[in-house]
Amino acid sequence: AVKRTPFIAGNWKMNLDHLQSIAFVQKLAWSLADAKHDYADAEVAVFPPFTDLRSVQTLIAADSLPLAYGAQDLSAHDSGAYTGEVSGAFLAALDCAYVIIGHSERRTYHHETDAIVNAKVLAAQRHGLVPVVCVGETAEDLERFGASAVPVAQLRTALEGVDGAKGLVVAYEPVWAIGSGQAATPEQAEKVAAALREVIAEVLGDDVAQATRILYGGSVKAANIASFLREPNVDGALVGGASLDIDEFSSIARFK
Ligand code: G3P
Repeated sequence: AVKRTPFIAGNWKMNLDHLQSIAFVQKLAWSLADAKHDYADAEVAVFPPFTDLRSVQTLIAADSLPLAYGAQDLSAHDSGAYTGEVSGAFLAALDCAYVIIGHSERRTYHHETDAIVNAKVLAAQRHGLVPVVCVGETAEDLERFGASAVPVAQLRTALEGVDGAKGLVVAYEPVWAIGSGQAATPEQAEKVAAALREVIAEVLGDDVAQATRILYGGSVKAANIASFLREPNVDGALVGGASLDIDEFSSIARFK
């Protein structure tokens, strides 16, 4: 079996301005460095608001901090008359490695459809950014269709025209588990992650499916991270609330 590097990602959402981000990233790096031997085999990434990215880039580069970073969204367009949008080209110029796409909050509050998510995934790849594609069912979907149907359909559309060689990360975030304190069980997460890996295999081939990291997101904390990572198809976590607490997030990164 292919060994996939565990990925622990902190989605800050609309929290921490650029000044706060500097202090936060510095302290987080210290906290991770204290435990280096424990977390060295995980990749740790932060996803700050757009306005923090330049500060985070400068700090991480200046001190060679072992942290990856990315944005929480991008435009489907590359440049032009799109007031308020941020191009993937600009994110690439800030050395972002990743960009979150299709978070349920974007789908719900900004009406992002599967087609928009797909266009953004393609935009990310055009600029050399690795998309972190979020999928997940609502409580109502869960009741009507079971856990896998909606995330599987979302991912199938998101992957249209994608270049598997350029890499991607998939995050399974059941909407009912986000910020609710009610995480999915590891068994539930595994079942959907396995179904999502099947979709990747169908669309992009088995090698890409085996190489792709699939994360679980939704009320992840230090106390439950290890149980998710024990599942064969869960390769990491996309962490919201708990990523804003340095000790907690640092413990999550030391999930063993
Ligand atoms: O993107 C991560 C997020 O939606 C999960 O949030 O607060 O439940 O960890 P939270």
